[in-house]
Amino acid sequence: MIVIEKLSKIYDTADVPALDNVDLKINDGEFLSIVGKSGSGKSTLLHIIGGIEKPTSGKVTVDEVDITSVSDNELSDYRSRKTGFVFQSFHLEPQFTVYDNVRLPLLINDISYNEHKERIESILKKVGLEDKIKSKASKLSGGEKQRCAIARALVCDPPLILADEPCGNLDSENSFKIMELLKNINDEGKGVILVTHDKEAARCGSRIIELKDGRIINETS
Ligand SMILES: Nc1ncnc2c1ncn2[C@@H]1O[C@H](COP(=O)(O)OP(=O)(O)O)[C@@H](O)[C@H]1O
Ligand SMILES: [Mg+2]
Repeated sequence: MIVIEKLSKIYDTADVPALDNVDLKINDGEFLSIVGKSGSGKSTLLHIIGGIEKPTSGKVTVDEVDITSVSDNELSDYRSRKTGFVFQSFHLEPQFTVYDNVRLPLLINDISYNEHKERIESILKKVGLEDKIKSKASKLSGGEKQRCAIARALVCDPPLILADEPCGNLDSENSFKIMELLKNINDEGKGVILVTHDKEAARCGSRIIELKDGRIINETS
């Protein structure tokens, strides 16, 4: 369970808050969609939940630990063990193969070498990318890049997947495949928090919150 209390973020260079006193509870295994216009604070909220960014004030308690007040080491531990992040622009290592991209979190988390091959093959099967295992990431299509990024997010089996506009660079057919994949991941018990400006995609969530000027202005379920 994630409990967000009075969360605010003011970037150094900005005079208006990116997040303004946000309160929100997110249950384990929930599929939550966050919508809102560009600049409304969606990415900032997702980055703080994922431990990528620190708030100016407020608390984010994940399984009873306030991640806004832990040390940097504990925060990176939280990031790598509890969350898998999926970005709009994929953030793959272009010169690495699919295998080596998906392997990175296993190395970071000190997973025993003799487990790597099996885990990578099995997760690539799940995202339908097993035949690209030896391809360089730079040679993949957009949809394949995002499926590779999702495999990387899943390979350490974190309970929560955070996706920031994962279909933002994809055509409608590939977007549909990615959304199906996120739904499957959620059906298997993982929490999914999806940031999107696409109202149709947002409906994959069991709950939708809308941000405007860093505040929650609407909630539907
Ligand atoms: N690193 C940053 N430095 C300064 N301002 C930022 C930074 N990131 C975001 N902002 C500002 O914070 C507000 C919210 O941004 P963001 O969370 O990216 O919104 P969204 O994802 O909904 O488009 C915007 O006004 C944006 O310009
Ligand atoms: Mg954004």
